Amino acid sequence: MKADAPSATAYLIATSTLFVAADPFAGRLIPARAAELSAHFVEARSRAARWAHETLLRRKGARPFVSALERLTLPGIQLHYALRKLYLEETTRAAIADGIRQVVIFGAGYDTLALRLHGAFPGVQFIETDHPATQRRKIHALAAHARRDAHGPAATNLRFLPLDLTRRGFADALLNSDGYRADAPTLFIAEGLLMYLAPAEVDALFRTMRDCSDGAPIRFAFTFMEPQADGRVNFLTRSRAVDAWLSWRREAFKWGIGRGELPAYLAARGFALREIATHETFRRRYLEPEALAHLPLAAGEYVCVAGDLDEWGKR
Ligand SMILES: C[S@@+](CC[C@H](N)C(=O)[O-])C[C@H]1O[C@@H](n2cnc3c(N)ncnc32)[C@H](O)[C@@H]1O
Repeated sequence: MKADAPSATAYLIATSTLFVAADPFAGRLIPARAAELSAHFVEARSRAARWAHETLLRRKGARPFVSALERLTLPGIQLHYALRKLYLEETTRAAIADGIRQVVIFGAGYDTLALRLHGAFPGVQFIETDHPATQRRKIHALAAHARRDAHGPAATNLRFLPLDLTRRGFADALLNSDGYRADAPTLFIAEGLLMYLAPAEVDALFRTMRDCSDGAPIRFAFTFMEPQADGRVNFLTRSRAVDAWLSWRREAFKWGIGRGELPAYLAARGFALREIATHETFRRRYLEPEALAHLPLAAGEYVCVAGDLDEWGKR
């Protein structure tokens, strides 16, 4: 991504959340507070973004235009973002029920999980980390919103830590950050992030989780993509226009791994695979019960939940 600019894809995901939330059928899959917060992030971006929000997202007549654009580029991508978020929320709630007392989100973007859950779980420390340029924008938007409705990042169990994962020393920054506890059982989350890092940077992230944990159990929930037949890491169905846009925004995909290689990859880094969720998992779990199985859903980004080998040994 551009070093001094907020992530364009994080913004796209917030916009998608709003678009799905306004859908007469799929809208019920988006928590109301997630839509409300996403609207603040989208509106805080620029005048043009506010205009696009008003015109394309709020006016019914414009919806077919956005849907057609999605069909031409990456069909079902907006619903995919919504469902991977639902899955990660369930993963987080299950981890907390199992005794996790700290949730650290890497590359949080404009995600709303920690913002929504920290109030419900006052005994759990939530820490959002992100590239400074993206996080700055989020904190400004939250602060502006807080002045209006008294919600904001003021709680002591919600912290924000700017972290560029391509810079050395980010492990120390996490260890020394306000609120972080190395002895707390921790869930780390990397949603829509690892594909933007180089393989050595992904390795460094795995090492950091270990270095920052004082023997306490760790879980790691992350999304990943597989290298395709042409060798490129990508969704299964996407157009060249998407590749070109990602390259232009300097957010092209760099790291991927085949599902079959994942257990050995994790074991070499001290983790064991607990589960992998695919678009089929999402369809069965969220769309079929709501009679929405006919909706297009992008395929090719998976959620992996891994536990450290110690935690695995205790199960
Ligand atoms: C596709 S967005 C995903 C945002 C969020 N996790 C979600 O799924 O809604 C990628 C995120 O990774 C962050 N990111 C990319 N490169 C990064 C880096 N070198 N260090 C820290 N964060 C980075 C961006 O700032 C952005 O928030």
